[in-house]
Amino acid sequence: MTPARILVVDDEVDFEALLKQRLRKKIRAKEFELIFAHSGKEALEKIKSDRTIDMVLTDLSMPEMDGLTLLDKLREIDENIKAVVVSAYGDLKNIRAAMNCGAFDFVTKPIDFEDLTITINKTLAYVKQIKETIFRLQQAQLQLIQQEKMAVLGQLVAGVAHEMNNPLSAISGSVFLVNDIVQKLINHLALYQTEFTCSSPEIAEYAEEINLEHIINSLPRMLLVMSGSTERLINLSNSLRIFSRGDTESKVSADIHEGIDSTLMILQHRLKPNRQRPEIQVVKNYGSIPEIECYLGQLNQVFMNIIANSIDACEEVNVGRSFSEIEAKPNRILIQTKLTKDRAKVIIKIKDNGTGITPEVQSRMFEQLFTTKPVGKGTGLGLSISRRIVEEIHGGSLTFTSLWGEGTEFAIAIPVVN
Ligand SMILES: Nc1ncnc2c1ncn2[C@@H]1O[C@H](COP(=O)(O)OP(=O)(O)O)[C@@H](O)[C@H]1O
Ligand SMILES: [Mg+2]
Repeated sequence: MTPARILVVDDEVDFEALLKQRLRKKIRAKEFELIFAHSGKEALEKIKSDRTIDMVLTDLSMPEMDGLTLLDKLREIDENIKAVVVSAYGDLKNIRAAMNCGAFDFVTKPIDFEDLTITINKTLAYVKQIKETIFRLQQAQLQLIQQEKMAVLGQLVAGVAHEMNNPLSAISGSVFLVNDIVQKLINHLALYQTEFTCSSPEIAEYAEEINLEHIINSLPRMLLVMSGSTERLINLSNSLRIFSRGDTESKVSADIHEGIDSTLMILQHRLKPNRQRPEIQVVKNYGSIPEIECYLGQLNQVFMNIIANSIDACEEVNVGRSFSEIEAKPNRILIQTKLTKDRAKVIIKIKDNGTGITPEVQSRMFEQLFTTKPVGKGTGLGLSISRRIVEEIHGGSLTFTSLWGEGTEFAIAIPVVN
């Protein structure tokens, strides 16, 4: 734990030495750390430039800027820094004024160091509590924003996918019919050509002009491309719908494999080959698992976060390697599912041969907002959200093993019934 930081403001230099001496045990035990300023002005500068100060212990009568003015200004900078004032014994008027200026507590001169220690501890405990509350609030707020964003995005995507469905079905159906019709027309033309061999020069000339033979040969191929592409669009639209499946109020029985496949489909553009590297191979090893009661839309978000991290790690490990070097040891993501022996849990493992994770990063990577990626690429939200979805919402566990330079494996365990 880092020691709490206390800014001591007093114009008497002797006080500094005395304080250090009397509080040396606490300082040595790293319970707190003392920083000194010798005037209100110097104190304000220190507080402004060093945002880690937890509390201020200040004398009231000082040249340049007195303690009361310092208290006033302190409140403007940061109301979470608590101040304890030191005043002359019996100087009730100034003590009242200081309390009215927002001082947290006071001690009197000559200082009773036992009392001072108690006062410091009490003040620091209060500051710590406030900090923790603020931190928890920030976390909750961030999660709410993220949840809201995902919900809105999910609805949008589901809506677009739904709207794409009708035109896509229409195109797909027409292509199917056109295929048949074109074949019939070609047959009909062929009949003409055999039955009426003496075609007029005009017809022959036009046939040459439009390259009739070539058109007839390529038309079925084009139609094949069209139906293939429509099919891919239909798959994508289905994947989008499954991926962003509007989560109902309660858990719904769902097929995890369908969820993973839809996620992979959506990540396809990041997996396919490009100029720097061949495709990132995805090897699926699906076991026989039952449908499980879950919020599939949210679990898909977990699969997405973890697989996207694996892709990032593969891309990072590629830095400095040539295309052929990567080809010799290709980027690979292994996805495995299975049911535990007691049939109580479904395990989904996602393993990559990317960079691996250093022990320092391992100890922090589930923290909200922790990222090692450049601004715009990483948000540091993926793993903390995933852990919440898996552990809090589904009563499962999200764990990992990783070796720096080797790769990483995440394991998601979800109870079959909960
Ligand atoms: N498969 C992985 N390989 C290497 N590092 C990883 C992997 N997964 C997560 N990490 C590390 O954990 C950090 C936090 O991940 P995450 O919460 O998803 O946030 P982000 O991806 O936005 O950085 C990443 O920045 C990265 O350093
Ligand atoms: Mg991430």
